[in-house]
Amino acid sequence: MDKINFFPDNFNVQNQTIILRLDFNVPIKDRIITDDTRISLCLPFIKKLIDKKAKIIIISHLGRPKGMRDPNLSLSPIYKYLKKKLETNVYFFMGDLDNDVKNKFSYLKDGEVILIENIRYFKEETNDDENFSKKLASLGDVYINDAFSCSHRKQSSIHKITKFMKKKFGGPLLKKELDAINLIINTKKRPVTCIIGGSKISSKIDVIISLIEKINNLVIVGAMANNFFIYKKLNVGKSLIEKNKEEIIKQIYDKAKKSNCEIIIPEDCMVSTSLNGEGKNKNLNQIEDNEIILDVGINTLKNIKKIIDQSNTILWNGPAGYFENKNFLNGTMSIAEIISENTHKKTLISVIGGGDTLAAINKSKNKLYFSHLSTAGGAFLEYLEGKDLPGLSVLK
Ligand code: 3PG
Repeated sequence: MDKINFFPDNFNVQNQTIILRLDFNVPIKDRIITDDTRISLCLPFIKKLIDKKAKIIIISHLGRPKGMRDPNLSLSPIYKYLKKKLETNVYFFMGDLDNDVKNKFSYLKDGEVILIENIRYFKEETNDDENFSKKLASLGDVYINDAFSCSHRKQSSIHKITKFMKKKFGGPLLKKELDAINLIINTKKRPVTCIIGGSKISSKIDVIISLIEKINNLVIVGAMANNFFIYKKLNVGKSLIEKNKEEIIKQIYDKAKKSNCEIIIPEDCMVSTSLNGEGKNKNLNQIEDNEIILDVGINTLKNIKKIIDQSNTILWNGPAGYFENKNFLNGTMSIAEIISENTHKKTLISVIGGGDTLAAINKSKNKLYFSHLSTAGGAFLEYLEGKDLPGLSVLK
């Protein structure tokens, strides 16, 4: 298999304009960054490029604005964060990426940084548009993807841009992620349990099919589980679901049977009538039409603990509940603590991934131990599946 070209340590970047694709898709509430893990992990490399006197143009997305300028998804809080953390001039570019854009950036001096506003404000980004990618590429001399967590997206700033760049590399954070995940794939010990949760149901549900034959247990939690409840003809009230997923869930169960993989879905859950409400523990056949499932229940957690105790490798992506409200943080936190304890005391190999999962477990007051913490959610799962991710194949 071809190898990814990683950015060489001795590369002379002075006078060069670097287009740096990062993943600043972090949780933001009322314009305040509520978890900065993904940003802080990028800082050492940005600082290194600044010290080496590169001109740096940073591109990132935030959320899914679908080509609209949604003010709630502006990178402005991240710009302020970078301004505080980086000892150089940092500019925020909110204009159009038109044909004149290159001239608009001509004020950038060596060792300075421009952050471009949410790249998904431009609909061409998600379409992997050829002209848009060419325009982006014209901004710099060197392209570096240090965003493993969005490398599964076939989008301009990750994928097509590389067609127009002679010098293109994977960054050090991307390398670190891949090295750690490869090590775990190669040394994993059975039984292997994969825990999948979170709310990005459509991104992950298809991945499950190919994961099944590589694992022994599949634990479904979070909003992801709601679709399994629908399949089992249970009422989920006003809970988040993805329509028309019954066929794929049937395939998941059929494949699991053939592959001897056990599927575990919650047997009870915490519900409320609003996201800001308090939780009530209910069995799954008791959900009312006006209720929302917001966390796993007590019996489910006991069962998950048992499965984790019996496992030698755990791969976990996606929170078990609506952790933003502390009343529904318990499921995610309990799972994190059991995995951490077993990783610390026993020989459990654990990889925890995804922006939301990191944000949730960072709320813990205790020190937690995992073999590897990945910034990536969907990308991590697709990589585990064995897929050649579009953003990585173009760097080979
Ligand atoms: C993530 O949070 O997994 C990445 O930033 C990718 O985001 P996306 O699922 O909206 O493409």
